[in-house]
Amino acid sequence: MLDWRSFRFSREIVLRMAADTVLLNVSLMLALAVRYFYLVAFETIENGLTYNQMFWAYVTYFSKRSWLLTAICLIVFLMSGFYTYSRAYQGRYKALIIFQAVSLGYLIFSFLCYMFDLTPQLPRGAVLLAWLVSVGLLMAARGWSMIWRDVVRTELQHDKRAERAIRNVLVIGGAGYIGSALLPKLLEKGYQVRLLDLLLYGTEPIEGLLNHPRLEVVRADFRAIDKVVEAIRGMDAVIHLGAIVGDPACALDEELTIEVNLMATRMIAEVAKGSGVNRFIFASTCSVYGASDEFLDERSALNPVSLYARSKIASEHVLTRMADETFAPTLLRFGTIYGLSGRTRFDLVVNLLTAKAIVEGRITVSGGDQWRPFVHVDDAALAVFKALEAPVPAVHNQVFNVGSNEQNYTISQVGETIERLVPSSELIDVAFDGDRRNYRVNFSKIHQALGFVPQWTLEQGINQVVEAIQSGKVQDYTHAKFSNVKFLSEEGMTRSINRQTGWAHELLNETIVTQVGSLPN
Ligand SMILES: NC(=O)c1ccc[n+]([C@@H]2O[C@H](COP(=O)([O-])OP(=O)(O)OC[C@H]3O[C@@H](n4cnc5c(N)ncnc54)[C@H](O)[C@@H]3O)[C@@H](O)[C@H]2O)c1
Repeated sequence: MLDWRSFRFSREIVLRMAADTVLLNVSLMLALAVRYFYLVAFETIENGLTYNQMFWAYVTYFSKRSWLLTAICLIVFLMSGFYTYSRAYQGRYKALIIFQAVSLGYLIFSFLCYMFDLTPQLPRGAVLLAWLVSVGLLMAARGWSMIWRDVVRTELQHDKRAERAIRNVLVIGGAGYIGSALLPKLLEKGYQVRLLDLLLYGTEPIEGLLNHPRLEVVRADFRAIDKVVEAIRGMDAVIHLGAIVGDPACALDEELTIEVNLMATRMIAEVAKGSGVNRFIFASTCSVYGASDEFLDERSALNPVSLYARSKIASEHVLTRMADETFAPTLLRFGTIYGLSGRTRFDLVVNLLTAKAIVEGRITVSGGDQWRPFVHVDDAALAVFKALEAPVPAVHNQVFNVGSNEQNYTISQVGETIERLVPSSELIDVAFDGDRRNYRVNFSKIHQALGFVPQWTLEQGINQVVEAIQSGKVQDYTHAKFSNVKFLSEEGMTRSINRQTGWAHELLNETIVTQVGSLPN
């Protein structure tokens, strides 16, 4: 029933009432016409009237009764909420409301004509037919307007998507191990890429791309808000890879790690969101699972055993809390990476053990029973690319483990594989080195949701590293530029920007006990 206190005539309501007026009058006219032709064809006209006189009698019926029928029906429609709520009604319920209201209008009309003996009385057959036609026309009109609205809405959404098609991508920390594998992929696909990086490891990782016409390099610290604001201007997506990476490197300077890995992530995300950049892909890590004997998926409890992992969990929390219809963060938890890129790292287990096998003839593992998921650096870049190109609903506020179920190996299994591929080497088990990480991870989600299938196997990755060392492409794998912890401890890193770290510490402490299901999956 209509609430009169809140009811206001709007232009739209008046137009809809005008449309119903037309439909009601067309129904009555049609019914009278059918009745008249039926009379002419099958019945004899009584009262000594000619066909011509009968025709004018029907015209009089229409002109004298249509206004009353229309007025009664419009009042009933109005009272039934036809012009206010019915838009929200769907399908059969909407049809029922129309049927009820039209029937009630016609009943009241017939009752009044009968009660007050209004002449001329409309032929009953014509009234019945007019009622049926009115029900049909009004339902058809509303059905059509629903279909039309859907078509327009779909078109608008399509236009909006086309408007927001990703062209300009900001890659933060893109001159590192993963970034230098990702940039060529983005450029090849025609993206306009802006790189924001301090170039801690020099320009060597992206040497071949420096003159690319669609690559803009901004050498700056991503903790500096003014640089971030400038870099995000005009971008359609942000891929944030920048961080102090790895447990030992993060342990060097905890305050610095918090600033770079957590506080800057929040600031960058806020600038992106504030600038209307919807897509935000964040590089997290499977290290967030820490130590666990379960087969872990994105909903599993997190059990970080290092500041590095805690800084990633806290960043994930910050990002998921910021998600809304204008901001779609995607969190990629990479497995441990291996293989060659523009900035190959030799502080990661597969690359390091392979290099040791060739150069020293020894593959040293400690304990070796710990599980770890592995993924090639090219495949890590492919996963970022898949997330970037996926439709927003598929990645909006989603966490994805990046890797494949087949590439979960224990450290001993990695050692054995390297020993097999580098026959001159020997596998040696040494004392426990203090790394408590142990996680076997399920990667079904990224496979099913984004169609991600790694292109590399562990064996192929090991052979790639073997070839690089044997051919002299990599000369001294122990050089600081190949190791984050070595580089940061030898070169140091300025801490020129001071920040309030209070909130960051609280958030980090929260991650020590992380509840299952506290993050979207
Ligand atoms: N490599 C792995 O095995 C692995 C595994 C899981 C997750 N990840 C994540 O993927 C991301 C990329 O890892 P990666 O191995 O390529 O790291 P990387 O250390 O090779 O590269 C990091 C990049 O960030 C830049 N950078 C660091 N601090 C900066 C600052 N304050 N301002 C501007 N630039 C800065 C560095 O110059 C470098 O180019 C990281 O977030 C990391 O946590 C990596």
